[in-house]
Amino acid sequence: MKVLSAIRTACFALSAALAIPHGALAQTFPSKPVTMLIPFAAGGPTDVVGRLVGEHMSRTLGQPVVIENAVGAAGTLAGTRLMGMAPDGHTILIGHTGTHAAAVTLNPNLKYKPLEDFAHIGLVNTNPIFVNVRKSHEANTLQEFVTWLKANEAKANNAHAGVGSVSHTTCLLFNSVVGVKVAGVAYRGTGPAMNDLVGGQVDYLCDQAVNVAPQQRAGTIKTLAVAQEKRSEAMPDVPTSAEGGLPAFKVIVWNAMFAPKGTPPDVVAKLNAALRAALADAGVRGKLQELGAEIPAPELQTSDGLKTFVGAEIDRWSPIIKAAGVTIQ
Ligand code: MLT
Repeated sequence: MKVLSAIRTACFALSAALAIPHGALAQTFPSKPVTMLIPFAAGGPTDVVGRLVGEHMSRTLGQPVVIENAVGAAGTLAGTRLMGMAPDGHTILIGHTGTHAAAVTLNPNLKYKPLEDFAHIGLVNTNPIFVNVRKSHEANTLQEFVTWLKANEAKANNAHAGVGSVSHTTCLLFNSVVGVKVAGVAYRGTGPAMNDLVGGQVDYLCDQAVNVAPQQRAGTIKTLAVAQEKRSEAMPDVPTSAEGGLPAFKVIVWNAMFAPKGTPPDVVAKLNAALRAALADAGVRGKLQELGAEIPAPELQTSDGLKTFVGAEIDRWSPIIKAAGVTIQ
């Protein structure tokens, strides 16, 4: 045992001697491809945003940003995985309102604390939420859908990306404003959930602009309302929830970028600079805006700005979730 312990001590001493100081790490970062964990299925809104921004970041960083869809536990598995990764900037994560704000109240088993367990890189985008029904649905307006939902509460089904995902929490809010409790059908992301809405297998889905815009334009679904005060510039013919008679249904969601806690500040600064360069690029901005997403104010694109924002979002979602009376067991 003594021998083993001596070897272990010697190993620690050697690794300490070889440890690269933070400044030096930033000079060499990135020394290999950067993996971006996406907590939901390919083809969904988080994936689309991650790929778009990641592609531009790879040009700034001089290394590929490789996308890995790390799906599970309504998007929180990816955050749990990120905590175990080396804090050297080579693994990052795109999280959102569900994984890094609502989950704190919703999920008593959440393995991380969004404010304490990560390095905050910056806010990526905000994303209005739309109420969508299958094309074959008899309702053509939000008012007609609300009437149908009240009469068909027991047989209606609501697609979402898992308990605690954005599509789940925002439709919970919608259902509570309408005054109904509806069975949910969980998917690995709203990419596959949207496929089933297009296929007519489910009745409705509350989803982010990025996933809705292509289907709404193609006429494969009926998009009844946007849950904000003004109409979306990307889908101007879709009425607001207030125009549809539900002014209390208002919600904006967001995507944000995180690294493991302990990532050296200079490395976080390099990742942040690459993110901001992507968000300043006319091509990336144009594509995000075409998909209905909005670029955050410059102060929210910073590490400190994101941390303050996430704290406020945890506080904002807590009473909403408590009022809806739902938790993950
Ligand atoms: C996704 O990317 O599939 C969605 O963001 C999941 C969700 O609704 O939270």
